[in-house]
Amino acid sequence: MSLLRESIHGQWSSRWAFILAATGSAVGLGNIWKFPYIAGENGGGAFVIVYLLCIVAIGVPIMIAEVMIGRHGRQSPINTMRSIAIGEGKSSYWQILGWSGVLAGFLILSYYSVIAGWGLAYIFRSGSGVFDGVTSDGAASIFNGLVGSPESLIAWHSVFMLMTMMVVSRGVRGGLEKAVRYLMPTLFVLLIVLVGYAMNSGAFDQGVKFLFAADFSKISANSVLIAMGHAFFTLSLGMGAIMVYGSYLPKDTSIAKTAFIVAGADTVVALMAGLAIFPIVFANQLEPGAGPGLIFQTLPIAFGHMPGGAFFGTLFFILLVFAAWTSSISLIEPAVAWLVENKNMSRQRACFWTGLATWFMGLGTVFSFNIWSDVKFFDKTFFDLLDYLTSNIMLPLGGLAIAVFAAWTMNTVTTRSELAMVNERSFKLWRFLVRYVTPVAVIIVFLNVVGLLDFT
Ligand code: TRP
Repeated sequence: MSLLRESIHGQWSSRWAFILAATGSAVGLGNIWKFPYIAGENGGGAFVIVYLLCIVAIGVPIMIAEVMIGRHGRQSPINTMRSIAIGEGKSSYWQILGWSGVLAGFLILSYYSVIAGWGLAYIFRSGSGVFDGVTSDGAASIFNGLVGSPESLIAWHSVFMLMTMMVVSRGVRGGLEKAVRYLMPTLFVLLIVLVGYAMNSGAFDQGVKFLFAADFSKISANSVLIAMGHAFFTLSLGMGAIMVYGSYLPKDTSIAKTAFIVAGADTVVALMAGLAIFPIVFANQLEPGAGPGLIFQTLPIAFGHMPGGAFFGTLFFILLVFAAWTSSISLIEPAVAWLVENKNMSRQRACFWTGLATWFMGLGTVFSFNIWSDVKFFDKTFFDLLDYLTSNIMLPLGGLAIAVFAAWTMNTVTTRSELAMVNERSFKLWRFLVRYVTPVAVIIVFLNVVGLLDFT
């Protein structure tokens, strides 16, 4: 039995509403901006395979666990963890997991918003036709012009933060459900158009080979960690975003099926983005390891040379921003839900303060592309460090704790009835994965990176 019948923040109107919202959260900059550039930096094929393995063996079971915990607790992740732990006669310190998730969401959103701001800026760049016939050097200089200007980055970051807080302040159902319903399918169609263009770019085979031909000699312990961290990032796992969405889920929904649909859609979008981008990279002699600017320096070349490119380019960046928008709201929702529950704040007030703090934190990322580009901590800029810390450390640790919580702390009677799996075998498989496979895999990857184990 759930602790509460329904969350005080409301409930999704149907199972599809939840699937769309969770897919909206999962599909975002992670798939279209981040996946191609980290795959490029880590040598392609082998990295992609490790990433896919992590999605299946770690991501999906943890997603099921997160949704299940959320629906059972029906409150913000902090209070959910606390009340379930107490109910099971365990330590209320489990709520720390909720807190670290709130912190991770805040840190991720601070840079996510800056990158989404690049997308906003590119809507207008495409629309004005500056990409017509653009060369690779031209595309690079347009990109460098943008990130070199703190004023523009701050302006676009501010716009995106406002957009995010506007939706969050209206609550889970206001606007959110509708936005995802139409925009996600359109984004998908546009990706197909881009893959079609890439097929005719003359280097499609090379792109496919880069993305799927596995050469495990190219992979290091650190790239395995990055692949695993990205599996968490792209599925929005390890910080409570999917948990808080799960808390708005009606009782009679099959959690496992839902998780497969969300993870499947997310993976397809990422692979399609890769298939659209790498052929263009090779056809134009660009560098696959170009870093965070990769899609902003390659896609304009495609748009600049296809018929109707200004239109498709504008539409693409609009959709990219929407994909980021439906993700960003889930990053801050756990914090807002907690403020509403515990500090007796209105949603609007809670949004104002969390939004302001996140905006401020985002300035660090803005400056790391220009005036602070030489300021390095552990050889990383502020943005790189923030990204590394959140995706590769905080999310996997959060995921590990969520797995342990679901599989060892909650009692089996509760989890079995929440999950209501079609058969006992799938339940046992899930429990085996979250009990042993996920925790052990995460720990092995960590030990490998710090050099205590050496598998690579
Ligand atoms: N999954 C989103 C993306 O790929 C980003 C995101 C949204 C996220 N919510 C999250 C990442 C929670 C980690 C945790 O763009």
